[in-house]
Amino acid sequence: MAAEQVDGPVAIVTGGGAGIGRATAELFLQRGGHVVVADAAEEALGWVVESPRAVPFVADVSEEAGNAGMVQAALDRWGRVDVLVLCAGIARRTSWEGEDAVEAFDRTMAVNSRGVMLGIRHGAPAIAEGGGGSIVVVASTSGVRADPERFAYNASKAAAINLARAAAIDWAHRGVHVNVVAPGPTMTSILQGGKVTPEHLAELTRNIPLGRMATPEEQAEAICFLGSPAASFITGAVLMCDGGITAQAGIFPPPQG
Ligand SMILES: NC(=O)c1ccc[n+]([C@@H]2O[C@H](COP(=O)([O-])OP(=O)(O)OC[C@H]3O[C@@H](n4cnc5c(N)ncnc54)[C@H](O)[C@@H]3O)[C@@H](O)[C@H]2O)c1
Repeated sequence: MAAEQVDGPVAIVTGGGAGIGRATAELFLQRGGHVVVADAAEEALGWVVESPRAVPFVADVSEEAGNAGMVQAALDRWGRVDVLVLCAGIARRTSWEGEDAVEAFDRTMAVNSRGVMLGIRHGAPAIAEGGGGSIVVVASTSGVRADPERFAYNASKAAAINLARAAAIDWAHRGVHVNVVAPGPTMTSILQGGKVTPEHLAELTRNIPLGRMATPEEQAEAICFLGSPAASFITGAVLMCDGGITAQAGIFPPPQG
């Protein structure tokens, strides 16, 4: 079947089954886009009603086949890719002396860093071929600062940020912009995955100058901005969407009330 010619942007969103990725895919759809929603968890894709504008696609981003497959799915359906959002990620607590430290480190790097490398490797040529567009890597404040007992996540997100910068340089001449959104704490299930207690959550909020966590929809707005023509002279940038966390020196406690 020949690919259909469409007007709205053609996007691929990894980790689109839940949280920030899902909110991003929904925002593209609301704005008239066409989206391949990719996720490793088939059941998480249940929200995607297959339609002329939405294609659910099961893909593990740590594997080359998953990345090649999701790009091919967009090309088969709509003949081009304009925006690739690399949002799939895992956050595991890691202890230096823990029995699972090496396995947790390797898996976290495989999804959060290798997954970004593979996404760019397969997505950038397709975007360039279609005349240019954008890749948005979803990293984290944890990629520019460190957290207690999260060294694997910290390392993986720092790598994701510099992969994006390197790709921005390598692909600029072929019209592919590569930028990063670095979210701060955002209300999704990933925080529960790290077994964050209610006390930790309260502490997280205390450290956010804006005084609250983000919603997935707020992160989606930042991602869609960097993936839009409005960001036409931006590449290699890291947009902190963190309520002011990384603006702080952390020497003095924040004002109360
Ligand atoms: N929520 C936060 O507080 C926060 C803060 C900073 C950065 N982030 C980053 O934002 C991104 C999205 O996080 P979220 O909070 O929406 O998480 P989430 O757990 O709600 O959603 C992540 C989605 O990614 C999918 N996924 C996991 N591993 C995958 C793989 N190997 N291949 C494909 N899909 C996979 C999951 O199935 C899930 O649907 C992640 O990269 C995360 O590190 C989140």
